[in-house]
Amino acid sequence: MPGLLLGDEFPNFEAETTIGRIKFHDFLGSSWGILFSHPRDFTPVCTTELACAAKISDQFKKRGVKMIALSIDSVEDHRNWSKDVMSFNSEAESALPFPIIADDKRELAVLLGMLDPDERDKDGMPLTARCVFVVGPDKKLKLSILYPATTGRNFDEILRVIDSLQLTAQKKVATPVDWKPGDKVMVIPSLSEAEAAALFPNGVTTKEVPSGKKYLRYTQL
Ligand code: BEZ
Repeated sequence: MPGLLLGDEFPNFEAETTIGRIKFHDFLGSSWGILFSHPRDFTPVCTTELACAAKISDQFKKRGVKMIALSIDSVEDHRNWSKDVMSFNSEAESALPFPIIADDKRELAVLLGMLDPDERDKDGMPLTARCVFVVGPDKKLKLSILYPATTGRNFDEILRVIDSLQLTAQKKVATPVDWKPGDKVMVIPSLSEAEAAALFPNGVTTKEVPSGKKYLRYTQL
């Protein structure tokens, strides 16, 4: 199945959405972007996910990330489902704060390698998996995560990853397990000791390990 690799330019697809027809790169402009797909409208897990994404949409905005969802139903279904989603959030009067792509012909699902072979509709057609694509301002794929239809995503983790992506796009650091903004970061292995000392004025501390190798280098930004 075709798919995308990290660093690939994200396809500049055209699609119908709940805000009209878009060209993806124009939709993104110079922003970061997140595209998250759903198996189907009017399904329980998808509804909880869209509701969560809507609730924390200001967190994406704060990070300069444009949001867009996708599922394999029509614009009309998406518009009706959006009302359920906002009602689930007890915000029935508000509009869903991001558009949904109508991939009812599954063209994007195939192009982006999003079909889940284990989940099928009543006609035996495969549904979309829960993909997350984060695209940088250079339109290149920075992150992809693929969940099966039966497992809902954790949008706090997605925000955490975006914080790491945005930081490591600017600085020669990597973020360790469970890192959160403000925590110490790790110096990337390709930097020499002298380069690290010059780049990180707060100093670099190295954790001693039995191998004697000095690769566990931390700094506070
Ligand atoms: C759901 O969103 O609840 C769902 C969709 C497709 C398969 C399983 C669960």
